[in-house]
Amino acid sequence: MVNLKYHAHSCWEVDDGSHRILIDPFLSGNDLADVAPDSFDKLDAIVLTHGHGDHTGDTVEIAKKTGAIVVSNKEVGDYMAAKGLTTHNMHIGGGYQFPFAHVKLTIAHHGSSGPDGECLGSPTGVILTMDGKRIYHAGDTALFYDMKLIGEMYGPLDVALLPIGDNFTMDIRDAVKATGFLGAKINIPMHYNTWPVIVADPAEFVSKVAAEGRKAIVVKPGESYKVS
Ligand code: NI
Repeated sequence: MVNLKYHAHSCWEVDDGSHRILIDPFLSGNDLADVAPDSFDKLDAIVLTHGHGDHTGDTVEIAKKTGAIVVSNKEVGDYMAAKGLTTHNMHIGGGYQFPFAHVKLTIAHHGSSGPDGECLGSPTGVILTMDGKRIYHAGDTALFYDMKLIGEMYGPLDVALLPIGDNFTMDIRDAVKATGFLGAKINIPMHYNTWPVIVADPAEFVSKVAAEGRKAIVVKPGESYKVS
């Protein structure tokens, strides 16, 4: 069983009972976040989808406290290594079996400038396989047709975590289309309502996915979804 806990925006805590991973820990400066960066004591890894500050977030503070390894594209990894963190660099299309999970990076159509304005490579999505469960975190991205390939090659996906907030990423209409390409058992919206420019109604996403015969649920900040 894998527990997926939402900490708002695109931050997810993935825990299989013996290992714990954080994805895109943007907590301080995020009014919707339910936890503080110093609340994490034990963490195996922090997986980063791209360099934007609302995804790299509190990585340096959390990794220094917990000793978590940072897993990301090479450019984000080099940036974090320069901050004194332990990193494992990967790149799009590549996968690696870590002691805590298998991580594979996918394409995402977006940017990846870093906290200091430098370009930190290409943005990514992540396919995380942990305790036999497969979770796709789309990162920040536009809708793209190769999501169909992700569904065909790596499905059945147990969960797809999809941005719906528009402006920087897919909107609800695009994300509903993405659920058809991916074919995941459960679709969960993210990257919405953090700021006025990405206001979206997650219940609208759920009802539109349901109208197409697929399943979606809303997981609120501080809530969890058990993947079993
Ligand atoms: Ni971004």
